Amino acid sequence: EARIFGVSPNLTTCHQSSSPSGFRIYCCPPRSESDEAIIEFQFPDPSSSPLRIRRAAHLVDHNYLTKYNKALSIMKSLPYTDPRSFTRQANLHCLYCTGSYNQKYSNSEFSIHRSWLFFPWHRMMLYFHERILGNLIGDDTFALPFWSWDIPEGMVIPEMYMNASLFHGERDFSHFPPNVVDLDYRNKESGLSPEDQIRTNLALMYRQMVSGAKTMELFMGCPYRLGEAGFCNSPGTIELAPHNTVHDWIGSNSNPSREDMGAFYSAARDPLFYAHHANIDRLWEVWGDIHNEMTIKDPDWLESYFYFYDEKLQLNKIKVGDVLDTTKLGYGYEEVDINPWLNARP
Ligand code: C2O
Repeated sequence: EARIFGVSPNLTTCHQSSSPSGFRIYCCPPRSESDEAIIEFQFPDPSSSPLRIRRAAHLVDHNYLTKYNKALSIMKSLPYTDPRSFTRQANLHCLYCTGSYNQKYSNSEFSIHRSWLFFPWHRMMLYFHERILGNLIGDDTFALPFWSWDIPEGMVIPEMYMNASLFHGERDFSHFPPNVVDLDYRNKESGLSPEDQIRTNLALMYRQMVSGAKTMELFMGCPYRLGEAGFCNSPGTIELAPHNTVHDWIGSNSNPSREDMGAFYSAARDPLFYAHHANIDRLWEVWGDIHNEMTIKDPDWLESYFYFYDEKLQLNKIKVGDVLDTTKLGYGYEEVDINPWLNARP
């Protein structure tokens, strides 16, 4: 018998799951995805689609802001039956992160956090989200912004997220600008001065990206494999912090699990989620640059796959091995100066 490589969700198993504080949630699509015609993911044609450049959120111009707001308000106005709608987009995170699906070939619940699936899954989610947004305004150069909380100029909530359709009410108001983000937030205020907070943040970045992330497993997280005992539950450095910590820092202090950003089921309802994850995605690239293009060659990682709707409402089956080259996916990142943390060796 041929060995099956990688993990994947079983679409026919979509079921209720629960929030961290214990109430039941249901984020399955209104009709079964297993009834859809599934297509194999194809790379965009580079001759007809320009490279999308993701820019730092604190540097975007008025023109860009108008475009993003327009795209997002169209997306928010689509009905729930449309998989491109903002609620359905947000529910993707709920589906894959709260255990709504079971794993294929096993009854264990499927989850993409706390393992080596973390980076590639979120890359895919953003990739399709970005294509849909661009398509809704007829702009195939549209790119998501990234929230560069790793450098001093980016260490507050970007101004663009404080207005219009990018604003979100379920946030901790006491963390609004000009408050400096605590990249190691543990549900308790650090009490540091802005200067000390920035210094502490830079030291954390150095640890999570450089000194504490010298091996694949330390940075990417542990190998998640097929079967009942396959889930490994050991996240990489960046997933733990700043990823988890910034989620909590943003979410509202008056909700039980700091929803929306503080809980998996609700996190992607806040537009800031996408900029937060664009930065995580960018840091994955930066880590590769720092550590001699280190990457996982294990077929259990490369062959793991998930499902996402594209802008044409087609359900794509896409493998981890498909998303390792962002240029092939048709996007890239504007460069920012990372020296503040790269040189923050203690
Ligand atoms: Cu899937 Cu930022 O979490």
